[in-house]
Formats: sequence, C-alpha cells, structure tokens
Amino acid sequence: MKLTDKIAIVTGSGQGIGRDTALVLAKHGADVVVADMNMEAAGNVVKEIEELGRKAIACKVNVADKEDVNKMIEQTLETFGDLDILVNNAGITRDAMMHKMTEEHFNQVIDVHMKGTFLCMQAAVLHMRKKGKGKIVNISSISAKIGNMGQVNYAGAKAGIVAMTKVAARESARYQINVNAIQPGFIDSDMTRAMPEDVRQARIKEIPLQRAGVPEDVAKAVVFLASEYSDYITGTVTEVAGGRSM
Ligand SMILES: NC(=O)c1ccc[n+]([C@@H]2O[C@H](COP(=O)([O-])OP(=O)(O)OC[C@H]3O[C@@H](n4cnc5c(N)ncnc54)[C@H](O)[C@@H]3O)[C@@H](O)[C@H]2O)c1
Repeated sequence: MKLTDKIAIVTGSGQGIGRDTALVLAKHGADVVVADMNMEAAGNVVKEIEELGRKAIACKVNVADKEDVNKMIEQTLETFGDLDILVNNAGITRDAMMHKMTEEHFNQVIDVHMKGTFLCMQAAVLHMRKKGKGKIVNISSISAKIGNMGQVNYAGAKAGIVAMTKVAARESARYQINVNAIQPGFIDSDMTRAMPEDVRQARIKEIPLQRAGVPEDVAKAVVFLASEYSDYITGTVTEVAGGRSM
C-alpha cells in the first residue's frame, strides 16, 4: 500500500490513535499535518515523522471552531500544495449516567465529535471536489453500535458520525472522494486508561481476540481506507474491535 507523496491531515494526532495513524501514514510515504490542540505533543510527533524521512507540520486546531479548521486547510495547502487524505480522529469523553450528565458535557462532546467532523469534512471536500479525488476516514466508536453505559453524549455523537459519513460518501462519490468510518473497540490509550480499572478489565474480558487493541491496530485500518486499495469502498463502517460486539 503506497501513499508516497500523499498529503494527509490527522486531527487529534498529538497522542494515542491519532499519533499512531500519523506515523503509520508516514511509514507508507505520506507527509502529514499533525493537527491538535496540544502543540507540544504535536511537535513531538512531527519530529518522529521527520525521523522517518517524511515531511510534517504541527497545526494548532480546535476542530469545533470553524475559523481554526479553515486555517488548518489553508496552512496545509500553503505548505504542501495539496490535500489527499483527511482523518477525523480528534476526540474527548465526558462520561456520566444520563440522569447526572450536565448539558455542558453533552454539548462539548457533540461539538468536538459531530461538529468537528462536519467542519473538517466540509472544508476538505471543497478542495477535494476540485481535484476529483480524496480519501476521508472518520473515527466513530463501537459505543455507537452498542450504546456503552455512561456515554449518551459520546455514543450519540459517534452514531452521528456514521450517518454523516454515509451522507458525505453519497454526496462526494461523483468526485471520486471516498468517505468511510472506523469503529474502534477498546483501544489502550489515555482515553481508556482514564476508566476505573474494574471497568477496563470487564471490557477486555468481552473481547474474543482476548486483548485490548493498540492504537496501531486502528492506524493500519486507516491506511487501508486512505490508500488506492480501497478505491471501490465508500460509505462503510469498519470495526476494529477484536471481534467485540460482532
Ligand atoms: N481509545 C479507545 O478505546 C477508542 C475507542 C473508540 C473510539 N475512539 C476514538 O478514537 C479517537 C482517538 O482516541 P484516543 O483514544 O487516541 O484519545 P486520546 O485522548 O488519547 O487522544 C485524543 C487527541 O485528540 C486531541 N483533541 C481533543 N479535542 C480536540 C479538539 N477539539 N481539537 C483538536 N484536537 C483535539 C487531544 O489533544 C488528543 O491529542 C477519538 O475520536 C475517540 O473517540 C477511541
């Protein structure tokens, strides 16, 4: 799977799944915009990509802010002159049982995941439609399929991402832009390390492949969906969950 000289934006790539996605894309030949709110983390990932012999820039962005997102696309085009791949990965959790969840925490999660994915796709397709080619990969979650307790905001937003993926895939197909979603299961990252240990262990026990996923498991699926190997695949949802909830 060659991505030589392709230009990719990965949101939330300062750490976790986004970081590994940026690195695995670079290992396959892509140059990467490491877009995150945390510039120190993004800067470290840029160095790691440069050590692999590819180009990278750090870009400070809050994906829920339209001005920030438009600047991210402008900076990408100014620096690299093109945009081939967009990975909408930035994310947060604000878990609580529904009867205790604050409106603020509900809104924050919807803003980052749903509005953020919408704004980034909207800005990217303007360029990709002119070019007549593009790959968009949206990171949803198995929580959207099974409805994890305590995640009415997150599961709702991640289900919204699946629906938006399908709309964007239909609208963009005639421009040869592929839009697909990935639903990771339980992946070892800061996000899941924040869970109580007994909940973590219970989730891991549900996984037929008998281990938590690692960020690279998701990154490899992203690379496939960002490469020409998936040219005839659009509007789909790929589960990267070790068989959980099949
Ligand atoms: N870890 C899992 O088990 C799991 C499972 C399913 C889905 N996911 C999804 O995968 C994605 C990555 O998760 P992770 O586990 O690597 O999380 P993480 O918390 O380790 O990393 C998230 C990154 O996103 C950045 N970010 C947060 N809000 C942002 C914003 N508004 N604008 C720009 N950047 C922002 C953070 O700074 C951080 O670098 C998320 O969308 C998450 O919902 C994770």
